[in-house]
Amino acid sequence: MAEPVIEMKDVWRVYAMGEEEVQALRGISFKIEEGEFVSIMGPSGSGKSTCMNMIGCLDRPTSGDVIINGRLTAEMTETELAELRNDTVGFVFQQYHLLSTMTVLENVMLPLRYQGIPRGERRALAEAALAQVGLSERLKHRPHELSGGQKQRVAIARAMVTKPRIILADEPTGALDSETGKQVLALFREINEKDGTTIVIVTHDPGIGASTPRCIRILDGNIASEEAENV
Ligand SMILES: Nc1ncnc2c1ncn2[C@@H]1O[C@H](COP(=O)(O)OP(=O)(O)O)[C@@H](O)[C@H]1O
Ligand SMILES: [Mg+2]
Repeated sequence: MAEPVIEMKDVWRVYAMGEEEVQALRGISFKIEEGEFVSIMGPSGSGKSTCMNMIGCLDRPTSGDVIINGRLTAEMTETELAELRNDTVGFVFQQYHLLSTMTVLENVMLPLRYQGIPRGERRALAEAALAQVGLSERLKHRPHELSGGQKQRVAIARAMVTKPRIILADEPTGALDSETGKQVLALFREINEKDGTTIVIVTHDPGIGASTPRCIRILDGNIASEEAENV
């Protein structure tokens, strides 16, 4: 059997807050296979962002194993973690995090620069990613000239332009109206089916949880329940 692209084994993350400690994750375990489309759903404060930071190699557990793309993150240096992150994970955020002084095309070309890809090739890859999200007509626009849904499409193009194995999205529809949110989810679905990219969406919205083939529910830093549905 293929090894999972994401594996969490009894993962704890405890934040020190002065004298107090916050147990944000309390022994979470799950596996996500290559090509899955999964939501991680829970109320505010349940540990979703902490979990996403583990998967995205932005943070390491207090105890337990986080294995991304077959690598145990606890054993890696900061530099190795950054490399794993750049090569393996594309991020999408609620507030898009686009650079306002750059055009749409430049925003999408940017991650390729960190991979040392020559400029001409960067441009062709970015144009292809923007075509895939339906924004070929907006290459020279700046982020403030776009609607919320269009900005999120640019952010998705930027996340996928490096062809990562995993796309991680934290509340990607949180700032959008429900119709636009549905279109963004449909776009993730299309990328998942077409490119085979593993997609993990973090959300507090039960409607999104119900619309993905698999939903991992978390509550107070624990797995609350998990069910496969609507496959
Ligand atoms: N850097 C931090 N320092 C201290 N406590 C934190 C930190 N980040 C998150 N927490 C706490 O950990 C818990 C889980 O937070 P988080 O993972 O952000 O939840 P969610 O994304 O589900 O809202 C919350 O109680 C939060 O206050
Ligand atoms: Mg959060």
